[in-house]
Amino acid sequence: MSVEEKHLLDPLVSLFDISRPVDWKEVFNRDVPLDVEIGFGIGEFLARRTTDFPERNIVGIEQIWERTYKALKKIKDLSPYRFIKILHIDAWVAFERLFDLKTIDKIFCLYPCPWPKKGHIKHRLFSHDFLKLLNSRLKNGGEITLVTDFYPFFEWVLNESLETGFTVKTKKISPQYDTKFERKWIGGGQEQFFEIYFKKVEHQNVNSKRDEDLRVYKIKNFDSKTFQFSDYKEDIAVIFKDMLFDDEQERAMIHLIVSEEHLVQHFWVSVKKEKDHWIIAKAEGQNFFPTTGVAKAIELVFESAQHSCE
Ligand SMILES: C[S@@+](CC[C@H](N)C(=O)[O-])C[C@H]1O[C@@H](n2cnc3c(N)ncnc32)[C@H](O)[C@@H]1O
Repeated sequence: MSVEEKHLLDPLVSLFDISRPVDWKEVFNRDVPLDVEIGFGIGEFLARRTTDFPERNIVGIEQIWERTYKALKKIKDLSPYRFIKILHIDAWVAFERLFDLKTIDKIFCLYPCPWPKKGHIKHRLFSHDFLKLLNSRLKNGGEITLVTDFYPFFEWVLNESLETGFTVKTKKISPQYDTKFERKWIGGGQEQFFEIYFKKVEHQNVNSKRDEDLRVYKIKNFDSKTFQFSDYKEDIAVIFKDMLFDDEQERAMIHLIVSEEHLVQHFWVSVKKEKDHWIIAKAEGQNFFPTTGVAKAIELVFESAQHSCE
């Protein structure tokens, strides 16, 4: 990686080798107000906001890598660029795991995906539970500014916002953010957008999701030829993808997909011979959040290995 590329990636927070929830004052190395933008797209608002308010820290969250990369290129030459940090991750997971209670001053979200089809409403951000989660991460008196082009989404959010600890003000606004999606809607002839401004007046307690301590299991026998894993589909799903076995090293690597709430992770479990027994544990050298689902996946491999040898 060239020096230039390294500099480009500097604002990107490495999700897995940082202690969670993140101490953002330590990450930015200064104690000033903290703002967050959800779904920053190609980073236009993020760049402008930090240029206009260099005395504040800002964290941007975006789940699409191509857009995140464009935003990184946009911010790399800004003078206050060290006051921007980027999270390439789903916003639910970010707020659940990476932000502590009462740590954020302002949250912005411009033109979130409206998911207009009825069957897709479950994918929308700003549901009742999401608003409670945001509330819990905001300081008392903290604010959210949400702007949408889609009136049914605006109405839906207002309905979801009841009893989430916010007072809510709405207004119709003219275009003023000059982001890619705002220009797109203007290009389509839209002249008015819908703003919802939330102010936190009552705290909602939604605790951070903490990392699980992952168990290491020991079994007497393991036979890769008879090993069978039945997919598990409850509130957590653990799906078997593949198993590799190295005869020489006497080691199996089991590839699983672990799906829980807003998080889907590819996860490898190792089954390794040691003297007269086998050790079942997370495989080393992979990036993942040690969740309840991951702990369950290791336990399921242990149980399957036991049954397969009975
Ligand atoms: C319609 S675009 C708007 C982008 C930008 N704010 C603008 O105005 O041009 C919505 C953005 O939110 C991002 N997004 C949607 N759901 C997300 C989630 N759950 N977590 C993180 N980003 C999300 C999408 O990837 C997309 O870039």
